[in-house]
Amino acid sequence: MPGYIPEHIISDISDSIDIVSVIGDYVPLKRVGRNYVGLCPFHSEKTPSFTVSPDKQMWYCFGCGEGGNVYTFLMKHLNLTFPEAVSQLAEAAGITLPEEETRDPQEAARQSLRQRLFEINRLAARWYYANLRNLPEAEPAREYLRQRGLSEKIQSYFGLGYAPDGWDGLLKHLTRQGYKEEDIAQAGLILKRKDNSGYYDRFRGRIMFPILDHQGRVMAFGGRVVGDGEPKYLNSPETPVFHKGRSVYGLNWAAGSIRRKNRVIVVEGYMDVISAHRFGVTNAVASLGTAFTSDQGRLLMRYSENISIAYDADTAGAKATLRGLNILQSLGARVRVAQLPQGMDPDDYLRRHGQAAFEQLVGKQSLSLMEYKLEHALTEYDSGTIEGKAAIVRSLLPDLAGLKSAVEREEYMRLIASRLDLSEEAVFAEFNAYLRNSEKSRVKKDKIGKNRYNNSVVVQKGPPVRASLERELLHQVLLEPQRAKAIQRVISLDGFQDEGVVEVLRVILKEGPEREFDWSQLMQKLSEAGQKAVAHVMVADENRLDDFEHLLEKMYLFQLDNQLSALEEDLDRLEQNPNYEEIQKFLLKSFVFWQENDFLQRISIKRY
Ligand code: CTP
Ligand code: MN
Repeated sequence: MPGYIPEHIISDISDSIDIVSVIGDYVPLKRVGRNYVGLCPFHSEKTPSFTVSPDKQMWYCFGCGEGGNVYTFLMKHLNLTFPEAVSQLAEAAGITLPEEETRDPQEAARQSLRQRLFEINRLAARWYYANLRNLPEAEPAREYLRQRGLSEKIQSYFGLGYAPDGWDGLLKHLTRQGYKEEDIAQAGLILKRKDNSGYYDRFRGRIMFPILDHQGRVMAFGGRVVGDGEPKYLNSPETPVFHKGRSVYGLNWAAGSIRRKNRVIVVEGYMDVISAHRFGVTNAVASLGTAFTSDQGRLLMRYSENISIAYDADTAGAKATLRGLNILQSLGARVRVAQLPQGMDPDDYLRRHGQAAFEQLVGKQSLSLMEYKLEHALTEYDSGTIEGKAAIVRSLLPDLAGLKSAVEREEYMRLIASRLDLSEEAVFAEFNAYLRNSEKSRVKKDKIGKNRYNNSVVVQKGPPVRASLERELLHQVLLEPQRAKAIQRVISLDGFQDEGVVEVLRVILKEGPEREFDWSQLMQKLSEAGQKAVAHVMVADENRLDDFEHLLEKMYLFQLDNQLSALEEDLDRLEQNPNYEEIQKFLLKSFVFWQENDFLQRISIKRY
């Protein structure tokens, strides 16, 4: 994060507030020993693993791995930016923040541009809104909305408006109020004429949907033609205040409801969101027709991990659903898919069948990931033929293998068998063959990477040991930053797997490990991964610490092992495919490796 608010101010704030009371306003906390615990607001859990340490002024959730200091908590929980979190706490602590001028000038310029763009958008939204209510030429638009069942009340709630058919109505309105053409263009509301003779309005003769951020600021617009016409929707371009892939439509109206219901329903379009709200389904947001991104997924998961997808029942909708499913699943969300009748979207469905039926569709009747993939595969292949059945089963095997629960896996295999009219044994056999094959390729890999020090500590222990070893080393460094130098000397930082741990080590080395570290200041220099790593070791504060030298030695052996495996993989490749040049390279590489390690042996790894 940039030095946009002076560090001493941040320390002043951290010194005068208490993390337990700040977080306690949002999460009920109970004292347990030296720490406080509660139910994690960032994932759903029944037993508390969200832990706040008043000693360290940090928090960490042992369930989902989120963690940080008081600022990160507010940023995540209330979706604030860092400066917003700082100013909220400054206010609570009675500390005055410095004026704009003393801030980083580049950052200040960027902030003030963003502020102007938000203002321009807000004025535009008000102008569009007034047009829809007042202009005689907006009558067809009003009639269209009425006929789609949207009362004036709903139209106002969503701030719907109308862009008249002229070429410069908005341009004139905004320049008259003193806004510069360049800024209005940056907001995406006007476009430069081809002959360079000035600008014209981007949105003309359209019903306008303002797109708001979580703070209710207008980021962008979608504009729909009245009735039929092409293109049906026109949207604002990317601007300094609007990043399509990182925003969803309707979050500002849905946020509270998503938290209360602990579920978010993702639909495709503006009309679906508005219709959902009209029928009392208030936890719906739209991904705006663009490809669903992992940034959007992460944004939604800050509010709830239970995500239902209710996209249009057409080919494009199904494709988008599959993509969205895979993204959300890889983020760890619990995803369900609502199956709408062919040719319908949520808006159609709600208008025809109402709220109760829709909630059934996204609730009880919705499909899990596996069920959806099966249904989808059934439309992709011809299940009437033997080849088709085989292809369907094959397409589902990787997902089956990915299931963690054996019970679920078995249930799904039964389901697949019955949907394809196959014996359960046949599906089980396919699955087992698949497992054996992937096992074979895994074992083969293991063999290649097999290390010669079979009796070293390294071998028997898997990745979790490695991760906790890295964390323990970090803990040691946080207790005594000088140790970062020893680590750097003995093992390369590239050998660490936890990107958060490496980042913290690098920052400490860069800042100079001699100096006293102020935790809250250190945190501001770290990315999310680094902050989580610090919060984790600080809050966990495990007492079973090995001595530093021993930890270092273990880590060194890990690294040695990795390097050896890499060399052996090279060797394996060369055996299969000998090539003079490659052999030379290999010899050089292994020479360097042995020389370096011999050197280390000589100085003995205890002597860093
Ligand atoms: N969309 C878009 N540009 C288009 C078509 C669609 O940006 N030319 C986006 C819009 O965000 C739209 C969403 O994709 O809301 C879903 O498209 P569609 O199903 O066609 O829109 P609906 O909301 O169903 O449109 P309407 O009900 O107004 O006909
Ligand atoms: Mn639609």
